[in-house]
Amino acid sequence: MKRTHGSGTLRPEHQDESVVLQGWVHRRRDLGGLIFLELRDRTGRCQAVVEPEAKDAFSAAEDVRAEWIVELHGTVRVRPEGQRSSEPTGGIEVRVNRLEVLSRAEPPAIPVAAADEQEVSEDLRMRYRYLDLRNPDRLQALDVRHRVIKTIYDVLDEEGFIHVETPLLTLSTPEGARDYVVPSRNTPGHFYALPQSPQLFKQLLMMAGTERYFQIARCFRDEDLRADRQPDFTQLDLEMSFVDENDVLTLNERLMARVVHAAVGSDIATPFPRIGYRDAMDRYGSDKPDIRFALELETWNDVFAGTEFRGFSAALNDGGSVKALLVPASYAEGLSRKALDELEAHAKVHGAKAMAWLRREGDALKGPIAKFLERETADITARVEDGGLVLLIADRWNTACEALGAVRLALRDRLDLIADKRELAFAWVTDFPLLEWDDDNGDWTYMHHPFTQPRADELDRLETDPGSVHAVAYDLVLNGFEVGGGSLRIHDLETQRRMFDALGFSREDAQARFGFFLDALKFGAPPHGGIAWGLDRLVMILAGATSLRDVIAFPKNVRGGDPLTGAPSPIADTQLDELGLAVTAEPPEVQS
Ligand code: AMO
Repeated sequence: MKRTHGSGTLRPEHQDESVVLQGWVHRRRDLGGLIFLELRDRTGRCQAVVEPEAKDAFSAAEDVRAEWIVELHGTVRVRPEGQRSSEPTGGIEVRVNRLEVLSRAEPPAIPVAAADEQEVSEDLRMRYRYLDLRNPDRLQALDVRHRVIKTIYDVLDEEGFIHVETPLLTLSTPEGARDYVVPSRNTPGHFYALPQSPQLFKQLLMMAGTERYFQIARCFRDEDLRADRQPDFTQLDLEMSFVDENDVLTLNERLMARVVHAAVGSDIATPFPRIGYRDAMDRYGSDKPDIRFALELETWNDVFAGTEFRGFSAALNDGGSVKALLVPASYAEGLSRKALDELEAHAKVHGAKAMAWLRREGDALKGPIAKFLERETADITARVEDGGLVLLIADRWNTACEALGAVRLALRDRLDLIADKRELAFAWVTDFPLLEWDDDNGDWTYMHHPFTQPRADELDRLETDPGSVHAVAYDLVLNGFEVGGGSLRIHDLETQRRMFDALGFSREDAQARFGFFLDALKFGAPPHGGIAWGLDRLVMILAGATSLRDVIAFPKNVRGGDPLTGAPSPIADTQLDELGLAVTAEPPEVQS
């Protein structure tokens, strides 16, 4: 290596040392007599100065433009007082005696400096991702990602796990999304599916005796994209034999504490709080609660039992709930009528038919529905502080919880309720129902996946009252994001068959889709369980980013396309012929 130092590593103690630097010209300033080059590489930036006395270097520097790649030879000198900057290398500069251009470059298609990036559309940034990644914040996010993965390998190795790769060309794994499929040339009309997760393979590995498996696993899910979802994403997937729920949770807490420490240097408290699913929904209106701030929901069914206000009595008579969110006076002051209308609109987007609000002024209540609530006024004023607000949603229990939970998060953002933006609030959500009713299909469907163990003491109700059975399943939640999910698994054939029955699979269907897995269960399976972390989501939060796209080197856009390569794209007719395929749909206009 010719390079002796990273540009960002030079300090006053390097005074008088001869150095060779290689990197990008971040900025060039020509002050007539002197040329200043700010040189950038992965370690940071430093200032180099080219004086006319260094004749060849000076004339080369006259041509150099931003983002050219150069090699500089020179001597470190401490900058005189008054010319120092607050940058880490602000105390020195490199006096250049030789300059070699390693690569000329056209002016960058998008600005490379972080400060200008707001002006550039995300699609354009993705089209020139290799330029976008030159932004030190982006490189920093990739560094955090690397640190997380390295620590996972280290810790899980210490804990007796081995990394095993499972196939990418495989059969469908049911995780609730559509599959990406790959046509087979050798068997026309047959398709592989890319894995939605390695779920079945990791269970087979337990049956094979691997006992402790992990994998940094690529997963593929064709689902509607959001800022926290990518079609092609990465899990830390792990599975353990001969464990109970507590063993899995505590292993994950140990691992997460080390990962967070390595990634961001902070220490997190363990064990993480454990919140039952029902409790999470009741108190936070979410199965991935953001517990960094209070504002918990309350249930006000008792206040409105027997109410004459139709909006509420109808919901209660149908077995629904009235959920309440109290906003203290200090915050309520800032919530205008318009703001409350916007919060109601937000609640409606999340399924509520309406959201009512009441403001307490002394002994009176103000608000559109106050006049219908004379009977309840005293009870309500006793619960709301003077000047405070209560927001109310009456609906089916889960709709009321979810919609008011969404309002709670909207208030968090509007009122800026998170004091410490670097806080990491982990929690487990446990005791999920095994199944949930799917209105669209008129059938029970799994909440996690069909291999999740029902609670042993409730298993006898699987056929008679399936909705009342809980799963031994847990989600790992961080700052309101689901960063992981897992469960103990069914490990006997009979229970697995009953589970498929409960899900409405015929024996033939179950055999056709999962025959290989049911066969494996016949040969015995140790009790086992595990989890998968959404690695991209975790890194996004640790790196302080707001989109998964910021922490994936080459991400997809919201339409699932890659503006850099142009994928997905049509394929040649010869390729289609070879695969025995014909495209019947007109391709949509290419957007990416
Ligand atoms: P699950 O489907 O909950 O469980 O996935 C585990 C975690 O993966 C992350 N995740 C995603 N991240 C980015 N983009 C996506 N499209 C996406 N979908 C999911 C989430 C989620 O918590 N096989 C089970 C795990 C198990 O039971 O062990 C599974 O895949 O953070």
